[in-house]
Amino acid sequence: MIQNNLSSLALPSRLALDEGPGGLPRATVTHPLASGELYLHGAHASRWQPAGERPVLWMSERSDFAPGKPIRGGVPICFPWFGAKADDPAAPGHGLARLRAWTLEETAADDESVTLTLALTLDPFALRYRVRFGRELSLSLSVRNAGAAAASFEAALHTYFAVSDIHRVRVLGLEGADYLDQLADRRRVPATGRPIEFTGETDRIYLDEGGAVTIEDAGWDRRIRVGKRGSGSTVVWNPWTAKAARMPDFGDEEWPGMLCIETANVGDRAVTLEPGQAHEMEASIRVNSGVRPS
Ligand code: BG6
Repeated sequence: MIQNNLSSLALPSRLALDEGPGGLPRATVTHPLASGELYLHGAHASRWQPAGERPVLWMSERSDFAPGKPIRGGVPICFPWFGAKADDPAAPGHGLARLRAWTLEETAADDESVTLTLALTLDPFALRYRVRFGRELSLSLSVRNAGAAAASFEAALHTYFAVSDIHRVRVLGLEGADYLDQLADRRRVPATGRPIEFTGETDRIYLDEGGAVTIEDAGWDRRIRVGKRGSGSTVVWNPWTAKAARMPDFGDEEWPGMLCIETANVGDRAVTLEPGQAHEMEASIRVNSGVRPS
């Protein structure tokens, strides 16, 4: 039985609702321009495939699909903290939003896209998340402080991208940004002036100026462009061999096929909202195939 308020929604014909693995309510988008999938658990987009392209989001074959556990792959939402909670190391990593069942509030479809809007309250914050599946995937998280005092949060759209082979991938757009190295107690490393290439475990918080980030994939001759708004940091992550082996919900051999580029506001880029104030962070993702990287 699908819970939530699904039966009261007038669903566009390009959207179907069912139960996915673990009985988790799932929305499936079938549109001439793109197909996709989203679990209400975590408001978790797990698939997006523009017509004629390979899937763009990566999913682990070892992912859990269970209440109280995060899904591995797709786009988990990290909120209201990123990584370990500063004042409570026993709290769930990356916050609560990816562990909760969200409410599907609105759906819409037109010739360009199918849009789902989901909501969740995590006191004092009221969250709305709009996901638009089309030639572009647009993910927009809006946070309002519904409480009586100022409150701060961190957030990340923790996007897992499918790549041909991490060794054949470069990331452009962060050449001029310093980063905090998560593998060295968040030591600040000055901008390198070069595209990112991958030769080992990588876990960095870039303090960027909000420009687009591009994944250049020489193996599949494609570029994935992540444009963003309202975001002052970008997390770049690949676990490589040892960390992949330590994660029970991540296959030991899966790491060469994925790369996380996370549109974020974390660390000293956390957002503080006065009562009644709202903030919006958006990632808009596009794919350009058949372009041989220069
Ligand atoms: C990344 C972090 O955002 O998420 C990494 O930078 C972390 O440090 C990774 O390992 C995965 O986190 P989790 O909680 O989903 O295993």
